[in-house]
Amino acid sequence: MDLFFLSMLLLLLVSLPLSLGFLLFRPKSQLPGNLPPGKMGLPFIGESLEFLSTGRKGYPEKFIYDRMAKYSSQVFKTSILGESAAVFCGTACNKFLFSNENKLVISWWPNAVNKIFPSSLQTSSKEEAKKMRSMLPGFLKPEALQRYIGIMDGIAQRHFDSNWDNKQEVIVFPLAKRFTFWLACRLFMSIEDPDHVAKFADPFNVIASGIISIPIDLPGTPFNRAIKASKFIRKELLVIIKQRKMDLADNRASPTQDILSHMLLARDGEGQYMNELDIADKILGLLIGGHDTASAAITFVVKYLAELPEVYNEVYKEQMEIAKSKAPGELLNWEDIQKMRYSWNVACEVMRLAPPLQGSFREAITDFVYSGFSIPKGWKLYWSANSTHRNPECFPEPENFDPSRFEGNGPAPYTYVPFGGGPRMCPGKEYARLEILVFMHNVVKRFKWEKLLKNEKIIVDPMPMPAKGLPVSLYPHKA
Ligand code: HEM
Repeated sequence: MDLFFLSMLLLLLVSLPLSLGFLLFRPKSQLPGNLPPGKMGLPFIGESLEFLSTGRKGYPEKFIYDRMAKYSSQVFKTSILGESAAVFCGTACNKFLFSNENKLVISWWPNAVNKIFPSSLQTSSKEEAKKMRSMLPGFLKPEALQRYIGIMDGIAQRHFDSNWDNKQEVIVFPLAKRFTFWLACRLFMSIEDPDHVAKFADPFNVIASGIISIPIDLPGTPFNRAIKASKFIRKELLVIIKQRKMDLADNRASPTQDILSHMLLARDGEGQYMNELDIADKILGLLIGGHDTASAAITFVVKYLAELPEVYNEVYKEQMEIAKSKAPGELLNWEDIQKMRYSWNVACEVMRLAPPLQGSFREAITDFVYSGFSIPKGWKLYWSANSTHRNPECFPEPENFDPSRFEGNGPAPYTYVPFGGGPRMCPGKEYARLEILVFMHNVVKRFKWEKLLKNEKIIVDPMPMPAKGLPVSLYPHKA
């Protein structure tokens, strides 16, 4: 029997007595309106099976759209990942959630995240995130990132030299991961050596699947594997952190050379430095946040460019104009990135149709009423990119690939949300833009390609990915 279903069965057996007790004795809500319409599903497991399995079958939007049609196009209740939840759908709901951070809601990550990153249990996730965000702007703001574009281009060239050139076929997804991971190791921690990078890479792949999973810590479950992988990586990171501390003390490292130095030297409001384990967890979080998401985006860019030759041709034209304007050996710079307008519109359209993160959670910090429905304090609120990205009211003919949607002012506010919104919007958005564009520049400059599997299935677990990793045959441009 599939391990996933075996664990669900075990969980059901363990949780049944507890859940029956809860059903019989739970306190009545004091809120004025009714709870949103919807179904809570089985005790504890709720509708997690459908929520996760529609993703694994490649249609994460089905969970949302089936219930929007059945219950309400705005908000429906469910129970997922062991939590009572309301799913907020559509533009007005996105606006409501993103504008009420710290007033009615706060950002919330599934319990699995706290177990996989245990040091975040020391304080509330709100405080952790605040700490994290205070570290990031210095490093991730557009002005600071400008000086890393050349480094990104240099790494991209080395990546293509050694992994793509002289190959007739490649599998894109693992290579996209290798590229984004190498960049992150270099820019976050100044790790240059590809062998050192490779040592880290595998356990990372295990962590992502464990984050959005049922938190059952039994041998073999995705959750259990993720906890083990995170312990391994944290140990490795601690070695690097200790070394950097010594290097900073001996002036062998610069205070601004990467995010690790920034974190080691930053103090909180009380003048305290962050402890090493905390830093290891923060870096781990960034590597996870910045690695799988961007590699999913890159893989789908390659997929759509293979399927849409006219879009490929336009991207190629734009990138070759930039390439031709450069002196031999000259690396990409900020001005070049500004010229990649069409390419970025293409990447945006890719992330509309295949958002790397399907959505994220908030938690109600007080009882409130939304659109006539009561939302009890403590409920989890899930917003989903697909509820607007594939909604014909927000994007006419939503299944059509049309980069011109992003021309001019682009989509209406709160409709296009691959990076979330409000104060918790992804702080790595600009970094992701640069790495995706640098990749696009290098791949179209060297190759045209064709998909080897015409109807490769897409799995969403939790990021979207082609089931076989997107094998393609490569056709290098003639020099
Ligand atoms: C295409 C690439 C990426 C996508 C689609 C993406 C998407 C997202 C989304 C949807 C969220 C949740 C926002 C919310 O709840 O409103 C998020 C949070 C976050 N992302 Fe990204 N992300 C990407 C790349 C990155 C990169 C490259 C980094 C780091 C360099 C990063 C770091 C983070 C962090 C730290 C958070 C948590 C922020 C908080 O809780 O305040 N992400 N991202």
